[in-house]
Amino acid sequence: MDKIVIRGGRPLKGEVVVSGAKNAALPVLISALLTDRECRYLNVPQLVDTQTTLGLLTEMGSTIVADKEGIAIQIAELSSPVAPYDLVRRMRASILVLGPLVARVGRAKVSLPGGCAIGARPVNLHINALRKMGAQVDIEDGYIVASAKRLQGAKIYFDTVTVTGTENIMMAATLAQGTTELQNAAREPEVVSLAETLIAMGAKIQGAGTSTIVVEGVGRLEGTTATIMSDRIEAGTLMIAAAITNGDVVVKNCNPEHLLSLSELLQQAGCVLEKMDNAIRVQGVTRPEALDIVTSPYPGFATDLQAQMMAFMSLAKGTTLIAETVFENRFMHVGELCRMGANIKIDGHTAKIVGVKSLQGAPVMATDLRASASLVLAGLRATGKTEISRIYHLDRGYEAMEKKFALLGADIRRVKG
Ligand code: UD1
Repeated sequence: MDKIVIRGGRPLKGEVVVSGAKNAALPVLISALLTDRECRYLNVPQLVDTQTTLGLLTEMGSTIVADKEGIAIQIAELSSPVAPYDLVRRMRASILVLGPLVARVGRAKVSLPGGCAIGARPVNLHINALRKMGAQVDIEDGYIVASAKRLQGAKIYFDTVTVTGTENIMMAATLAQGTTELQNAAREPEVVSLAETLIAMGAKIQGAGTSTIVVEGVGRLEGTTATIMSDRIEAGTLMIAAAITNGDVVVKNCNPEHLLSLSELLQQAGCVLEKMDNAIRVQGVTRPEALDIVTSPYPGFATDLQAQMMAFMSLAKGTTLIAETVFENRFMHVGELCRMGANIKIDGHTAKIVGVKSLQGAPVMATDLRASASLVLAGLRATGKTEISRIYHLDRGYEAMEKKFALLGADIRRVKG
């Protein structure tokens, strides 16, 4: 297995370009299931998760042609509406095929995702919503088996804000009979970008980006060309990298409006930020001010940036509290950060981080995607050598991360295992 080896202590300097967003690409690629026409996608990031998604679509009968500019997908006939355990196990977001499959061919068999490193992550809200839309949904041998002649519009209230739940049901509702209203819907920019893609395919959707989304079902959807939006979590990770190394970096090809909560926190910590056209410049600090941080659904501070921010706060001039309110077990990085000299204690959903003057390089192990990113950031700042193993987590969601950091002046390399 590959490792990343970093010799830390170099401030990052220069310009870096953000890739297409993993969390936008997955639902947008999967939306091709809703039509028999060809769809083209541009700016698709090269990630293990996008490959897994294309693999899933191929198993269902899609023709996929990739060239330099993008990827064309056509699912003229949906031969097998099944998402097998092996693929769902590798990528939980495979659950996103459930709604589109039932909407298009009236049946779906999708493996239950099961537990994962950051918490139980159930899919009950996806299932309940489909049932409200008239689908028969049963659990058989670890699979969700769903069927419906034609889904019916319904009023659906999500009692927890769920990103993929909102996306799944919004896709299902595009081909349903009648109007579906999603209340307490996720407001993430990735939901908006999916809605824009669906609208370009002929769907009738209003309110994406607010907590009430109304979808009026149509008889069929057409093909489209969609550009994957830039990755706000990658952009945020690069911003925190500039901050933690006391560097000076222009993060290009990002939408500063999507990064307001992080920008606010970095400024409170003492960093200097400059908003530019589709870019943000971040100048770091030797030691940040301590902060109080709470994760919450968009537009709040993203749980997907919590681990990276914790690495930064481990060097603060005081004590930081980070409350994780989205997932119940998302502190897997704490033990590894402590091995690098951080002083962090967990009490339920809150981490108490007593700032230290420096971090020291150590051999550490990645446990999930964003936890891996936090260890890379800590390694970039730490004195000496950090060796991060199990980086396949990183490859699921960051395109060429070590190359981007190397271009900014970091001493970082991938060692093939
Ligand atoms: C998505 C993102 C992930 C991000 C997360 C929260 C993608 C592919 N992944 O994950 O990167 O960390 O949003 O911003 O876009 N829940 C239930 N029942 C359900 C569904 C969710 O209880 O049926 C709970 C979850 O356990 C969690 C909370 O709702 O505690 C939010 O999860 P959700 O927004 O669904 O996360 P994902 O969509 O899986």
